Amino acid sequence: MGCNVEKIREDFPILKRKIQGKPLIYFDNTATSQKPKQVIEAINNFYREKNANIHRGVHLLSQEASELYEEAHIKVAKFIKADKWREIIFVRNTTEAINLVAYSLGLWKLKEGDEIITTVMEHHSNIVPWYLISKIRKLKVKVVGVTSEGKLKKDELEQKINNRTRIVAVTHVSNFLGTINDVKEICEIAHEHGALALIDAAQSVPHMEINVKDMNCDFLVFSGHKMLGPTGIGVLYGRRDVLDEMNPFLGGGDMISSVHYEKEEFKINWNELPWKFEAGTPNIAGGVGLSAAIDYLEKIGMDNVRKHEKELTSYALERMEEELEKTVIYGPRNVEERGGIISFNIEGLSPHETALLLDEQGIAVRSGFHCAQPLHELKEVKAVSGSTRASFYLYNTKDEIDKFIEVLKQIEKLT
Ligand SMILES: Cc1ncc(COP(=O)(O)O)c(C=O)c1O
Repeated sequence: MGCNVEKIREDFPILKRKIQGKPLIYFDNTATSQKPKQVIEAINNFYREKNANIHRGVHLLSQEASELYEEAHIKVAKFIKADKWREIIFVRNTTEAINLVAYSLGLWKLKEGDEIITTVMEHHSNIVPWYLISKIRKLKVKVVGVTSEGKLKKDELEQKINNRTRIVAVTHVSNFLGTINDVKEICEIAHEHGALALIDAAQSVPHMEINVKDMNCDFLVFSGHKMLGPTGIGVLYGRRDVLDEMNPFLGGGDMISSVHYEKEEFKINWNELPWKFEAGTPNIAGGVGLSAAIDYLEKIGMDNVRKHEKELTSYALERMEEELEKTVIYGPRNVEERGGIISFNIEGLSPHETALLLDEQGIAVRSGFHCAQPLHELKEVKAVSGSTRASFYLYNTKDEIDKFIEVLKQIEKLT
């Protein structure tokens, strides 16, 4: 199908909205994406026609709901080229997926003095869980830095990793600089030292083709709401043999195959994958919505999504650099090395002031630290007061970027 943007836009009801009397230009896709009517209708239809709890009923509705929920796992597995659908665990979001790995491994497997490597480029959700478990279990967290071009210092990773390293947790695409990291190489370095590799793919799975087997990661985590799906559904992919060796993080119904009370003790057997890690009633409608989002993305083709975003990003970067005089842009310049994310600051204005002025013209962008405060504060980056961030998706257009740049020029005149 390709990226026929005008046709795609018709599928997104919210894009018809006016903001402050102006047509909405939605450039806050890194925070969350908009939803096409196909996803909205799939969720609506589920509640109208199929709603029942899964796995607990022999009645037809429950069986149908169970099938839909399992199918959603199968669809995600195919989408990221996982070997088996049982390697797909549904959680609430990227944040919960990272916490699941941190607590499951941290509480059951890691020992005092074990080391975890993460980077200064991470979203707080790939920093704070490691901090918490390191305090509980007396682990050491080591952090890899970033160059002034906004790239990971790979030599520092090679210096810091050793035979005490158990996990290397790195983002695929930075949600502030847009940098695309060579995660295949990072997984290789981790494995050479016997460590597991966790890749935060919150900003890559929605925007490019992902193949977990080729990447050779042990865990990959992402959120449904950033890829046209609903909020409250996210994914933890884990390699089968690794998940088999892990114990659950949350306990409750559905994650056990049996619970016995014998000789004044409970005897518990875990359920098979992925249910072992999905305690309690899951977000069934969320799974159905994510399934519909994947159908939508696959129809367009992830290569087309990436191509379209690259075109928009290089067009915006070129024009911003040439035509804006008081604007600092962060991150690598080569669009082969960055996703559709452009963070910037206008001299004399705070990020929030810039975002408010853009909002007055109907343009939605994010401002602040984007949950990546250490990276903003880094001496190589120097954005201590935060930044304003514009981020693109498959429904954005060059016309919208033209309007955005026109408004930025007006804003520059105010300072
Ligand atoms: C790179 C990255 N990791 C993790 C997250 C957290 O995602 P969520 O809030 O859906 O858990 C985000 C959200 O913006 C992100 O950009």
